[in-house]
Amino acid sequence: MKEKFYITTPIYYASGAPHIGHAFNLIYADIIARSQKSKGKSVFFSAGLDEHGSKVEEKAVLENKPPQEFVDEIAEKYIDCWKKLNIEYDGFIRTTSEEHKKGVYYFFEKLKNAGAIYEGIYEGLYCVGCENFITEKNLINGLCPDHKQLPQKLKEKNYFFNLQKYLPTVKEKILNNEINIFPKSRRREIISIIENGISDFSLSREKVKWGIPFPDAQNQTIYVWTEALVNYLTVLDYPDGENFKKFWPADLHFVGADINKFHSIFWPAMLLAADLPLPKNIFAHGLFTINNQKMAKTLGNAIYPIDLINQFGVDGARYLLVSQFSAEEHGDIKKSAFKNKYNSDLANGIGNLFERTLTLIKNAGGVKKTAIDLSIKSAIEKETNNYRLNMENFKLFKALENIFSLIRESDKYINAQKPWSLEKGEELNKILFTVFETLKEIAISLEPFMPEKIKIAKNRLWEIENGIIKEEKLNLFPRIK
Ligand code: MSP
Repeated sequence: MKEKFYITTPIYYASGAPHIGHAFNLIYADIIARSQKSKGKSVFFSAGLDEHGSKVEEKAVLENKPPQEFVDEIAEKYIDCWKKLNIEYDGFIRTTSEEHKKGVYYFFEKLKNAGAIYEGIYEGLYCVGCENFITEKNLINGLCPDHKQLPQKLKEKNYFFNLQKYLPTVKEKILNNEINIFPKSRRREIISIIENGISDFSLSREKVKWGIPFPDAQNQTIYVWTEALVNYLTVLDYPDGENFKKFWPADLHFVGADINKFHSIFWPAMLLAADLPLPKNIFAHGLFTINNQKMAKTLGNAIYPIDLINQFGVDGARYLLVSQFSAEEHGDIKKSAFKNKYNSDLANGIGNLFERTLTLIKNAGGVKKTAIDLSIKSAIEKETNNYRLNMENFKLFKALENIFSLIRESDKYINAQKPWSLEKGEELNKILFTVFETLKEIAISLEPFMPEKIKIAKNRLWEIENGIIKEEKLNLFPRIK
């Protein structure tokens, strides 16, 4: 039987059009999913939308639309954007769907039967931007530091989740890496949150109307975060679906650092209470800032993927978003740097190497199978091995560095061998074959990152292997002025 791999992405609030922060997460996950598929694994890649809660409701009111109509329109925008970015997810879950509600009720029944739910009074502050409770000491000038919004004062009857009961087990499983949280800095953050003490959290909200009615108190709704997390099960048709049986637990929850606590503490505790297996890996990636400010729809400083696609094409946009900085870190985006990066890496780097190699092969009338030049063989093997290792560890930024070093090695090799100065014959053929094989390796490695362009390039390489020599240029990544 094929090995399975289940990768999830956060379900975004259906409150506005997707920006590049949302797109970054899906592109990254798409690259991992494609790479795992290419290794022959059976992969499930999930995405979706978080459509309940105050934040979404407030936006719908602002636009003077019934919330369901509002989220339906947003869903269309998201799905369209993911299609344009060539995101090949296997399941897309919307939390207003019947199948989600059904799974959530089943899950809550489990929590109740485990004795994990109790009634209490919540009194405190709530930030609608975060859809989360916030403590006085975390405010800056009375405002939420992330959303620059005034929190609401709340006092209401809530149902709580008995986090304290499960916290010691969650901690133990994090410490022994049964739940592997990375990078290390994010793992440390989680351990210190647990060690500093963390309160039980609400499962219900009394004043929020736009949500799934709470099972035992129909005047309350289920707290949006707790039902949102269950999407990772409902997208697999929990509890009875074949996909659930096959794919749960998640092999990788890919989430932003801002929502790590929900995934690394609350979610495992809820799963323990429901007696379900825990996720194996949680990768909490860094966030993009724009001029050192968090990018958010609520702040009005967002960049939209559609603009990048229009300027750089779909593969250009995908590449530019994952190549800015390592996903382990936070990073600041400079929109003005995109064009230089496109021209230097894609037009001059990848595009140029393909073009010059194809021209050399065309001029020689083709290339025949022979042995690879030993002077470059070990350098190629080293980079391709490192590439595989980095992809296996979800380090896409590093894997791209390996590919670009292969590209540089090939360029250096061509410049040193000067094939254009050689007569047709064994020596020339060996050089061309060496470059051709390296190019094949580069194409295979780049495929998950830029599937559209590489499909075209691979087709040309296949033609060459089969003795078909074409005149026209590939024109993979034309220079942008
Ligand atoms: N609905 C919740 C998630 C529930 S998952 C069970 C939510 N939604 S959100 O719309 O606010 O999106 C949060 C996620 O979007 C972040 O964790 C991150 O993955 C992505 N990003 C949002 N802004 C981002 C940046 N500025 N940079 C990178 N990623 C960002 O929270």
